Amino acid sequence: MPDRNRLVLDCNNMFADRTVGRGIATDRLDSLAARFRELHADVQRRRHPGPLGFYQLPFEATVVSEIRRFADWAAPLFENVLVLGIGGSALGTSALRQALRPPFWNELDDEGREHFPRLYILDNVDPATIAPLLERLDIRRTLCNVISKSGATAETMAQFMIVRERLLAALEEQGLQGHLIFTTDPVKGVLRQLAVAEGIATLPVPPNVGGRFSVLSAVGLLPAALMGIDIERLLAGAAAMIARCHTDELQRNPAGLFAALQYLAHSEQGAGIHVMMPYSDRLYGFADWFRQLWAESLGKRYRSDGGEVFTGPTPVKALGATDQHSQVQLYIEGPFDKTITFLAGPHEQDLAIPGPYPDSPELGYLGGRTLGELLDAERHATAAALAASGRMNMTIQLERIDAHAIGELIMLLQIATVYAGGLYGVDPLDQPGVELGKRLTYGLMGRAGFEPPALAPGEERWIAR
Ligand code: PA5
Repeated sequence: MPDRNRLVLDCNNMFADRTVGRGIATDRLDSLAARFRELHADVQRRRHPGPLGFYQLPFEATVVSEIRRFADWAAPLFENVLVLGIGGSALGTSALRQALRPPFWNELDDEGREHFPRLYILDNVDPATIAPLLERLDIRRTLCNVISKSGATAETMAQFMIVRERLLAALEEQGLQGHLIFTTDPVKGVLRQLAVAEGIATLPVPPNVGGRFSVLSAVGLLPAALMGIDIERLLAGAAAMIARCHTDELQRNPAGLFAALQYLAHSEQGAGIHVMMPYSDRLYGFADWFRQLWAESLGKRYRSDGGEVFTGPTPVKALGATDQHSQVQLYIEGPFDKTITFLAGPHEQDLAIPGPYPDSPELGYLGGRTLGELLDAERHATAAALAASGRMNMTIQLERIDAHAIGELIMLLQIATVYAGGLYGVDPLDQPGVELGKRLTYGLMGRAGFEPPALAPGEERWIAR
């Protein structure tokens, strides 16, 4: 039986008639229909083998079977998997674990983890985290997956050199092979050269798939398969979303609708802050992953035609119901500069609330209900309160939180990001702004050809010591 769509996008609260006149008028959406058709056609043209290679990832059967073979061999052999990567090389993997594996994964015993390895992700270079972790891990029973498309990222490469030394010391004559796998560009970069020179296994990141669009490549799929996630279902979900987004009719294309409404909210209603707020701990990692996708793709100085614009929405993450007691006051009564996207899924494991105080007006109503019901009620109430206060919001509802639905969600947001790039008129695939900081870091760390800039005179003046 073919899979039904498991993801529903409810955009009602983005419109003026639901937000006391403050939202988007439906004719504004209609006015984008023709532009969207052109944009959609352009996106279709730029799919694989063009620069939008992420569209092809659900259909790469050969790579998927290579990943599956490696994972089936490695998962029973290792107690731990250590991912070294940052940004697009780490965030998706972390979100997949949170959504599709039981909570506290690394604390579970072998049976609780169904005999799959623990997964540690080092996505920073803070020695206060890395040193104690390396002290604790039995490195001889750890598979290290170095993930860097460029092979040039200082953070990942520094981690790699530390871990490599530990492995060599622990394994002695056994050598590194079998304990390391690189996920990197198929041809270019220093990791690729090292793999050849040192006989390290590799998996490819396709050249036309950027880091933040790479979770459905070996970047996310290998760690996912090593944890026992059904990667074939994940890819089937992504493929189903591609099929759903095949139409150039804006109102029927969920990614188009998402992008167009966020774009209109920003450009016409001044709502440039986009809060992603899952009401589900399991989906919270996707707020982090989306933050990078939306920010790096759309925050741009120049339009694709060369004009200077300094544009881009600001993604923010929040968690329901926790942030109802932290952020929601601001969202409901603060400036009209935000849209809120709720992410929700069913609570497969629910917890009944006992009713020991039936006569208490403050507590009696909770007795006999469940925590899942409470969380859902809070989400519905927050969405309604926002709308009643003139604050635009939408909800992405997953029918189940499983690999298929997560594949749909990932692909929905990736396609939406590309459409949004087109609407803003910027290139969603580059990130020139990150480069200056990288170059200055190289200089400060003494890399030849990247000398540090001279310090400006008088710079001490505004430092309070
Ligand atoms: O989306 C991107 O391109 C970046 O966030 C990269 O993923 C990040 O900088 C890491 O790059 P690399 O995989 O080359 O080490």
